[in-house]
Amino acid sequence: MVESGMKRLVVVSNRLPAALKHEDGRWTVKQGAGGLVTAMAPVLRNRGGVWIGWSGAAEPDVDVEGLLSDFSAEAGYELCTVPLTRQEVDDYYYGFSNEIIWPLFHDLQSRCRFHPRYWRAYLDVNFKFAEVVARRTTSDDYLWIQDYHLMHQAFFLKSMGVKRNTGFFLHIPFPTPDIFMKLPWRWKVIQALTEYDLLGFQTMQDRRNFVRCLRRLMPETRVEGRGAAVTVRLGNRSFRLGAFPISIDYNQFSELAGREDVARKAFELKEALRHRKIILGVDRLDYTKGIPERIRSIQTLLKRYPDLKGRVNFVQIAVPSREEVGEYKDLRQEIEQLVGRVNGEFSIPGWVPVHYHYRNLPVDELVAYYAAADIALVTPLRDGMNLVAKEYCACNNSEDGVLVLSEFAGAAAQLQRNAYLVNPYDMDGIAKALHRALHWDRDERHSSMSKLRDQVRRNNIFWWVDSFLQAGIAKTLGDFPEVET
Ligand code: ADP
Ligand code: G6P
Repeated sequence: MVESGMKRLVVVSNRLPAALKHEDGRWTVKQGAGGLVTAMAPVLRNRGGVWIGWSGAAEPDVDVEGLLSDFSAEAGYELCTVPLTRQEVDDYYYGFSNEIIWPLFHDLQSRCRFHPRYWRAYLDVNFKFAEVVARRTTSDDYLWIQDYHLMHQAFFLKSMGVKRNTGFFLHIPFPTPDIFMKLPWRWKVIQALTEYDLLGFQTMQDRRNFVRCLRRLMPETRVEGRGAAVTVRLGNRSFRLGAFPISIDYNQFSELAGREDVARKAFELKEALRHRKIILGVDRLDYTKGIPERIRSIQTLLKRYPDLKGRVNFVQIAVPSREEVGEYKDLRQEIEQLVGRVNGEFSIPGWVPVHYHYRNLPVDELVAYYAAADIALVTPLRDGMNLVAKEYCACNNSEDGVLVLSEFAGAAAQLQRNAYLVNPYDMDGIAKALHRALHWDRDERHSSMSKLRDQVRRNNIFWWVDSFLQAGIAKTLGDFPEVET
């Protein structure tokens, strides 16, 4: 146990693990979507502490604390909400966070809308968060700020004269200077990041990109030390910098996959698909995930290898996300049309090649899909990590599945030796990889999958927390666990 065991852990993120949704005329509490929540929830369940964030509601007269109290009692840690107005949600969350930083940091700059109004709202909301954080914490706490919505927390806490030990983890990629320099507020953003005591990135490549941007904007930058975490000096100030690939609660997923009712569900899924080979895609519905390209690669597969007709199914499960942003609405339509087109082109009586589900699944159902799938097709155009890839491995207790993984997912840095790496833009390449993977023999599949599972089991979410907190709280240089990248 690291020294942080003595400190109270305070996680601060835009989204809480419980999100309020307005459905059928009333407010309900749902599990928040996405990798950040999947990864952080077991951490707080395990250690206790406080999670500060936005509830997902923008209505002034909703009793948020009341609605979340049962969730909080059951979870075993405290939830503290930061209320946001409709305008703040529009400009800071949908606007600055999801129409500027999200596309820019995923190398999709043509999708950015650099409205100055968004920037001002981002600063105002960060200040609002910092006020709540200052009020609800003490200097004995360890503050762990999560993700791109809240890059200015340490900056505002310091400007208020509030002393806290702060760490920041970026769940998404950090871009190269060519891309980052397009941000009109680049200097202020990079400067704010240097105010944290520890900055964590998903991969060494992200960390390198950050240092390159820092050197461009602050030529006085000096980097000292080697290994997973290093020290950056800027004149008489310094902070730590590290690569900490995030992960999942491996045992939770593997045990769930082994549960009798889940194994039965997996068998029923296979039976419903008449024991054909199952290729599975699971994502938040997001344009970074490469879902249209993936469906086109299935189309290519069926065109190139007609013998596969009637023998393979592609199942795509997409969870609704950011539905109020135009790009996400368009993407949903594009996917539905593509699914229709491919099914129209190839279906024969008794066989429809693509099965598409657009909904949030309960975790046991999701795990049953993972356990049933012969191949996981994980092909984001760019991704910070991609937990779906790790969840699939953890659930594959029979060790005979194949992971086909985008070379542009952060997970590729750790899993490249035993996953089948593909370029998500190369439809022919993916079709060929799928064809080969479908013909791997049992020994090949077993050998690769058991190594993948070992990797994910060892470098699980609790290992990730310990490595981050050791780097964040340990005072001496060089005292860090090896990070496998
Ligand atoms: P991101 O963080 O960008 O959403 P990740 O792959 O890292 O991408 O994490 C996605 C998380 O969302 C995973 O934990 C996955 O299990 C969950 N998820 C994805 N699709 C669904 C779905 N249809 N129903 C429930 N959970 C889902
Ligand atoms: C990614 C981001 C998270 C975000 C999640 C879901 O995982 O890194 O910060 O919470 O997507 O997106 P949402 O906008 O619904 O919070």
